[in-house]
Amino acid sequence: MTANINNAAAAATDPSTLTAIEATATAPVNIAVIKYWGKRDQSLILPTNSSLSLTLSQDILHSKTSAFAAASVSGEDTLWLNGTPELVSSSTRLRKVIAALRDLRRAKEAANAALPKISQWTLRIVSENNFPTAAGLASSASGFAALVAVVAHLYDVAQDTAVLSSLARLGSGSACRSLYGGFVAWEMGCKPDGSDSVAVQVAPESHWPEIEALVLVVHDGKKGISSTSGMQTTVDTSPLAAHRFAHVVPERMEAMKRAIHTKDFDSFAELTMRDSNQFHAVCLDTFPPIFYLNDVSRAIIQLITDYNATPCPGYSGKFKVAYTYDAGPNTVLYLPRRFVPEVLALVNHYFPHSVTASTTAVDYFTDPYQIMATY
Ligand code: ADP
Ligand code: DP6
Ligand code: CO
Repeated sequence: MTANINNAAAAATDPSTLTAIEATATAPVNIAVIKYWGKRDQSLILPTNSSLSLTLSQDILHSKTSAFAAASVSGEDTLWLNGTPELVSSSTRLRKVIAALRDLRRAKEAANAALPKISQWTLRIVSENNFPTAAGLASSASGFAALVAVVAHLYDVAQDTAVLSSLARLGSGSACRSLYGGFVAWEMGCKPDGSDSVAVQVAPESHWPEIEALVLVVHDGKKGISSTSGMQTTVDTSPLAAHRFAHVVPERMEAMKRAIHTKDFDSFAELTMRDSNQFHAVCLDTFPPIFYLNDVSRAIIQLITDYNATPCPGYSGKFKVAYTYDAGPNTVLYLPRRFVPEVLALVNHYFPHSVTASTTAVDYFTDPYQIMATY
């Protein structure tokens, strides 16, 4: 875990005289190559299968969240997400995450009477995503990662990445992976209390620096069915999903880890594309069916398939680029850096109006989250 903490002002502050406190954090998205889609416990957010993702650079896609608390502020804890206010109490997930952090702060205050009673102050939280929210680009992952990072910092609790990751999981499953950089697995675990359902770094960001991610924004609107509700209908109705959980993902997780450890791009790419395809097949097998891909998404899959089938002088690999789609129409491509210019040129040529290429060329892998300012 790497955090950049600017705490100079705090050092000069006498804690007992503190009457207001604020902090800001940013967190990156992560895009899975083995997809999480299904919960075995909806309350603790425990998955039906393990998953694996790459944490992208937050230079381009991130959630930025500021939290403010003051003795003089009254009223309910509130989150302004992209400018729209929401009471924390109105969302089970927000309420749980904030309550867990506040409990930790309360215990700290009980153990040390000199500490200001920040736990009793109203929280005002402002968060902005600098990319489309609820559009299949993992805003719930970066959003809850930034939220737990900033409130934990404000309360001076849960500084351990593993603890933060488990708290973030209670907000959104995929968020547990965004607290780590590089290649990150979320091991499903088997204990009913979820204590072994944790994110772990499979390889650090420095392990395979040739791989880049390109993000193609096909449509920036909010998805029709949230990930939370879509995956529950899948678990309840899809026989293909049951097959996937039991017979496909366990082997794929092992194969994907091998591909990463040995930097075998052909295996990495094939597993990534197959898993994206199967996830969307499972969505179609859900009843009523769920459609996250649109015609442009499908045309991009065809373009990448054709491009991969075109021989490239001096390159003996089978695949040059892998596509993957989360629960939305927007594309993420993983590819060795040498193919980035050609793939960008292709996308811009064939989709000059329907794909925003400006949010592309994302160097992936970075510090998981950063605390930018405090007090
Ligand atoms: P996505 O594909 O973007 O992850 P989801 O359906 O999984 O879409 O989740 C979208 C929801 O995540 C939003 O409606 C909101 O409740 C939550 N969310 C998104 N961004 C943030 C944020 N920055 N802070 C807190 N919650 C967020
Ligand atoms: C397709 O983590 O957004 O992006 O846990 O209900 O908040 P909740 O769902 P969420 O689901 C992510 C699904 C996915 C695949 C993945 O990120 O692994
Ligand atoms: Co999500």
